[in-house]
Amino acid sequence: MAKIIDGKKISAEIKDEVKEEVAALKKEGKEIALAVIQVGADPASSVYVRNKKRACEYTGIRSVSYELPEETTQEELMKIVKECNEDAAVNGILVQLPLPKHINEDEVLLAIDPKKDVDGFHPVSVGNMVIGEDGFLPCTPAGIIQLLKRSGVEIDGKECVVIGRSNIVGKPMSILLLRENGTVTTCHSHTKNLKEICKRADILVAAIGKPKFIDDSYVKEGAVVIDVGIHRNENNKLCGDVDFDKVEPVASAITPVPGGVGPMTIAMLMKNCVESKKLFGE
Ligand code: GUN
Repeated sequence: MAKIIDGKKISAEIKDEVKEEVAALKKEGKEIALAVIQVGADPASSVYVRNKKRACEYTGIRSVSYELPEETTQEELMKIVKECNEDAAVNGILVQLPLPKHINEDEVLLAIDPKKDVDGFHPVSVGNMVIGEDGFLPCTPAGIIQLLKRSGVEIDGKECVVIGRSNIVGKPMSILLLRENGTVTTCHSHTKNLKEICKRADILVAAIGKPKFIDDSYVKEGAVVIDVGIHRNENNKLCGDVDFDKVEPVASAITPVPGGVGPMTIAMLMKNCVESKKLFGE
């Protein structure tokens, strides 16, 4: 039987650590604020944004909410980002993705002051992550590293296989595992022999975007399996990229969906907000 890696519990621990740090900073008269910017009303984004604001409330971080209509122009959005950049009381800026199609996402992300880039999506943050300098790490892959470390999973010297190469998860995940001295292979839609490569993994991270794609035939006995996917199955139940029931008996540890990777993203965002205040706040 695999150990179930409890993301709900570990994320709660991290949020409690953040809460303590926020309270200590408050005693010194320092307040932390996060600007949360959403354009349009994509239902999934609305859920994420609501949860981010709730986490702010829990940890004592002030959230400054911008709920902008779908037809917001590039110029209007850029102006708000600029105002947040210039507002010394704002420590972090989060622009919820995806943005409506008429908006150039790259231009918006590039406009965020790297000192307030708590999502870790700015090219300066990405560059610092790659060369191992201090800076903001993207929340989902950084959360996965925390899940592994806090569950006692050693990464150093291990065969790590990441399936997926998105800028938000797959690519930074590979870099962060490499930073922990893992031997990392990144797989994607053009990869040949995917199954063979996955079978080598001591640590397998699935960020594919296909429900229950990874079954036991992809997993080595005793591997640690991290599931980044989130989907609704035919019965409207949540499931991941991993077929949990088939993989759990062969894995040594596995994250469930829900309650695995999902809650970590927001916990790490809160941690980045504190980091922002400590590194760059006044
Ligand atoms: N959309 C999906 N994941 C994320 C995330 O981590 N941050 C932001 N800003 N948007 C997202």
